[in-house]
Amino acid sequence: MDSQDVQADLKHVLYTKEQIQTRVAELAAQIDADYQGRDVLLVGVLKGAVMIMADLSRALHSHVTMDWMAVSSYGSGTQSSGVVRILKDLETDLMGKHVLIVEDIIDSGLTLSWLRANLMSRGPASVEICTLLRKPAAAKVEIDVKYVGYEIPNEFVVGYGLDFAERYRNLDFIGTLAPHVYE
Ligand code: XMP
Ligand code: MG
Repeated sequence: MDSQDVQADLKHVLYTKEQIQTRVAELAAQIDADYQGRDVLLVGVLKGAVMIMADLSRALHSHVTMDWMAVSSYGSGTQSSGVVRILKDLETDLMGKHVLIVEDIIDSGLTLSWLRANLMSRGPASVEICTLLRKPAAAKVEIDVKYVGYEIPNEFVVGYGLDFAERYRNLDFIGTLAPHVYE
């Protein structure tokens, strides 16, 4: 069923705009401390990472450049398979660069473990990962994620870049959907 009102589609708010802003600022402080004045290339994964990329990059004091990738994970339904296709590649040569992949959410971790290996093969000085959200299933894959905003339960979430059928990306908070939206 389709509702006219975005608010009516939501079950509950997981993280408010204020909570997200505070957490992103904390991540930025941690990143600034770790990179100690080195330039960082932020690689945002489209489309979900648009919001965290915008907020994180503005909270950083380090010199940053930004580039974007779009990938699609082959798989049935909502489960990703780990077989990834590049829909849009980077424009930046990674040779010798400190790369920080910026993601909205890690679920199984398969997409990101493929992406990290792919970027590592391009000769960067380092590749680290920053994700706003991580689901417990991600623990199944051996993937070292240096910066995690929040560990969340295994529930489908939307907002702050995350979508359901391309909707809800524009919300400034993160919430769960009411059953009438997907049933
Ligand atoms: P992996 O490979 O880690 O894939 O399983 C992560 C991708 O799965 C999508 N995803 C979600 N998207 N709400 C969303 O809007 C969710 O709760 C959710 N869980 C996983 C997302 O595209 C992410 O990049
Ligand atoms: Mg994504």
